[in-house]
Parts: sequence; structure tokens; C-alpha cells
Amino acid sequence: MDKLLIEGGTPLKGSVRISGAKNAALPAMAAALLTSDRVELENIPRVRDIITMGRLLAHMGAIVETPAIPPTAMIFQAEEVNGAEAPYELVKTMRASILTLGPLVARSGHARVSLPGGCAIGARPVDLHLKALEQMGAEIGMSHGYVEARAPRGGRLPGGRVFFDKITVTGTENILMAAVLAKGETLIENAAREPEITDLAELLIKMGADIEGAGTSTIRVHGKEKLHGAKHTIIPDRIEAGTFLVAGAITKGDLELTGCAPEHLTSVIAKLRETGVDIRETGPGKLRVRGAKKLVASDVITEEYPGFATDMQAQFMALATQAEGTSVITETIFENRFLHASEMIRMGANISVEGRRAVVHGPATLSGSEVIASDLRASASLVLAALVARGETVIDRVYHIDRGYERIEEKLAGVGAVIRRV
Ligand code: UD1
Repeated sequence: MDKLLIEGGTPLKGSVRISGAKNAALPAMAAALLTSDRVELENIPRVRDIITMGRLLAHMGAIVETPAIPPTAMIFQAEEVNGAEAPYELVKTMRASILTLGPLVARSGHARVSLPGGCAIGARPVDLHLKALEQMGAEIGMSHGYVEARAPRGGRLPGGRVFFDKITVTGTENILMAAVLAKGETLIENAAREPEITDLAELLIKMGADIEGAGTSTIRVHGKEKLHGAKHTIIPDRIEAGTFLVAGAITKGDLELTGCAPEHLTSVIAKLRETGVDIRETGPGKLRVRGAKKLVASDVITEEYPGFATDMQAQFMALATQAEGTSVITETIFENRFLHASEMIRMGANISVEGRRAVVHGPATLSGSEVIASDLRASASLVLAALVARGETVIDRVYHIDRGYERIEEKLAGVGAVIRRV
């Protein structure tokens, strides 16, 4: 199993190119199931979850091409969907496999997707996805650990009024993809407003879908009988960008991020500025971050977009260990997302966790230790902590980070970090 070895203490300097957003690419790939034509996507990050989704689509009968040039392109063609089924083997490694449920039932009239099961950061059920599909007229059943969704008489879904009791990102995406091929109109209320939803809607509109309101909490969809092929460039990864902003800040470096979307990073930038970090837009898609001599503590509460993303909470905690004063971090989206705290404590951080709140007293001198990555963003936060720790940190279970960060050690080494994979 791969490990990352990091020697802390070097300020990061130079330029880093931000990859395409994994969380926008995954639903865009699933959307290729909605048409028999070619869907060409660009700016796809080369990360593990993308490979998994590619395998899942191939399993369902889609042709998946990964051309050499440009290296971030992928082409999909699901001329026919055979076996509208997502097997446990693939779903268990990636919860986002549930994103095939909506497009499959819309296209084939039925779908069978394995239940994702538990995950490290909380129970993460799919009840909201299923209830919403029922509101659109699907019949939902469960057997042998699989969800089965059926449109009436195996035809098209009628569509309907969907209200999400709780905001869900992939739930909104699933219903959006089911609704574009429904017979009638679908109104989605309390929809998620993440930029990844807007990006998916843009792709679907290019494919011929009729969607209004994506990016707001009410989305209206007029179903179409058929969609066609399209070309689309995936938005930049705001979480990777946020992670590199923290990397620049925590090492008191001077980094330029290129190919990013500053407009998707408003809450993260505001929060980092509150701690004293200097962040400026230096051109289209460019951000420059310079570390402050002294970081000051700041509280953070995770919220749905446009609030502070739960996917940036762990990275912010790493920064908070270096800030002077007490930072209170409140996690409102997931119930068990502080697994990185105990590893940071082993490195010398002063953190106490009570339920959904973590209290960080700083600054603490971190020392290189052997730590274990528990989930994707937690592993990123341990890399950040290691970048300022004295001596060498060994991060085990790096496969978590490979699920969502493209060539992280290469990108970090390119701006001066002492990091290698063994
Ligand atoms: C997506 C992102 C993930 C991010 C999360 C929150 C992708 C592939 N993943 O995950 O990186 O951390 O949004 O921004 O885009 N919930 C239910 N029932 C459901 C669905 C969700 O109770 O049927 C709960 C979840 O347990 C969680 C909350 O709702 O507490 C929000 O989860 P959700 O927005 O659905 O997260 P994902 O879409 O899985």
C-alpha cells in the first residue's frame, strides 16, 4: 500500500495548475447514460473515482474512450444500456455510483443499483434520492442490498413535484438527470445550489434538456423524449484550489493558482483572509496566496453552498492548529467528520472534539509522526499539517487521497515541498 513521506518546514513557492472538479465530472459522466450519442468531456481530473465511474459506465454497456490528447478528455457513448445495474463491487469503493440511478431509470425505465453502505464520515444514506424518485412517479423496491427503481410499465417517468427535506448534492443531481427524460414537468424544491449542479445543468442543456433555475433552490425541468450528444468542459475543482490556498498559507509561502474559479471560492477566501492570509486575484482564473507572519484564530461553520464547504473543514483545521488563539469548528453536514483531529493531536495539535464541534487552540508546534488517512479530505488535511511539522511525517492509506486529488505529490513537489511516495 502506498504511503506519502513528507518533510515539513519549506515555504511553498511557485505556480500550481488546478485540475477539473471530480465532483462535477462524476455526474457529467453519469449523464452520458441519457443519450445514445457521444458525450465528450474535457478537463476531467485523472483520479481514482473517475476510473471507477468509467468502469461502471463500461459495465452498463457504454464505450469509454480516454484519448491521449488532450490528456484531460474523455468520450462516452452509451448507444444501448445493457444491464441497467451498478454492482456492489464498484459501488462499495465509491458512493457517487448512486449517480447512475437517476439516468438509468430515465433511459431504460428500470435500474438496479447496489446500496452504498456505510462510510467513514457518517451514515450517508440515500433515502432522500429514493423518496424524490418516488415523488417523480418511480416505484422503488429493495432486495439483496440493491435498490430497484422502475418507471410505470417500464416506460418513462411521469415527473412531479419533488421536495428535499434536507439539501443533498448528489440527490439533486440524480433527480435532475431523471427529470430531463421524464414525460412531464418536474419541480425540484430545496435543491442544492453547488456550482457542480450548475455545471451538470449546463451539460444537460447542451444535450437538449429544458432546465430553469439550476444554481437556485428551485429547479424546473420540462422532460424531453430524447437527448443528444454534446461537448462540455468541466469546471475547476474548488476543493483542490482551496486545499492549495491553505498549503500556501500554512507554509507561509507564496503560491499562484492557475485554472481555478475564484467565484466558487468566496467563502473559503473570506475565511482565510480573516485569519490574516493575503489572497488576491491576479488575472482570469488566477489567485495568489501569501502566508501571514502571524495567523489569527477564526471560527468556522460548515454549510451548504455558498457557505463554507464541509469538504474544506479538515484542511481549515490544519491551518487553525497554526493560528494564534482558539478556533471553534462546527461541522453541520456530516455527523462524524473529525477523524483527522485525532491524527493531528498525535502530531502535537491541541484539539478537543465534542460532538459536532472541534475546539482548536493554537499555535502548536507539530512534529512529524506516522498517521493514517481516514477519508479523502482528512488525508489532504494531514498532508497540510505535515508540510509545517518538524521532521518527517508518514501518511498511510494514501489511496483515499488518490480518489480525489490528481498527482498531489507531483504538484506539491513542483512548488518546493519535500514529499515522496513509497
Ligand atoms: C457531495 C459531495 C461530497 C460533499 C457533500 C456535501 C459528490 C460526489 N460528493 O456528497 O464531496 O462532502 O456533497 O457537500 O459530489 N443525506 C441523507 N439522505 C440522503 C442523502 C444525504 O440523509 O439520501 C445526508 C447526508 O448523510 C449528509 C447530508 O445529507 O449528512 C448532505 O449529504 P449530500 O449533500 O447528499 O452529500 P453527497 O451528495 O453524498
